[in-house]
Amino acid sequence: MTHGTLQLTRDELVAWGRQVGASLVAPEVFAISGDLGAGKTTLVQAICAGFGITDPVTSPTFALVHDYRGGVSPVFHLDLYRLNSPAELTNLGWDEMLDARAIVLVEWPERAEIALPDYARRIALSHVDGDPDRRRIAW
Ligand SMILES: Nc1ncnc2c1ncn2[C@@H]1O[C@H](COP(=O)(O)OP(=O)(O)OP(=O)(O)O)[C@@H](O)[C@H]1O
Ligand SMILES: [Mg+2]
Repeated sequence: MTHGTLQLTRDELVAWGRQVGASLVAPEVFAISGDLGAGKTTLVQAICAGFGITDPVTSPTFALVHDYRGGVSPVFHLDLYRLNSPAELTNLGWDEMLDARAIVLVEWPERAEIALPDYARRIALSHVDGDPDRRRIAW
């Protein structure tokens, strides 16, 4: 997974995410940034599917973290939109997640910037002007 930029339809984004998920070996941390509706959760669902997760993958908007089993390693899915400070990550079990040889997928990583390990991979999603069916993805 070297760097690149693409403009993808939803189906193309899902296919891209599935491929990424299929190639993952824990531990991995993904910081997935982008505005509301940019496609972060859609991408997380695709990565999880590619990784072999069969649990339903839904936005952890209120719980802030969901964990999914069924892959070769645990997957933690965080949505930090409502995180008030990086210190709150401790209560969510952040340190344990990083120590768990897990796949950690973080929406709204800006809320936790200082806590992200340097090996975190960055993916940025954004809307495309004039094309509501495509998203720009940069990694
Ligand atoms: N090319 C595309 N890629 C991804 N999603 C798309 C695309 N085109 C349209 N969509 C739609 O945009 C929405 C993306 O929603 P999603 O929940 O994945 O975004 P999000 O970035 O997680 O938002 P939030 O910040 O609210 O968590 C979905 O309704 C999806 O169907
Ligand atoms: Mg989301």
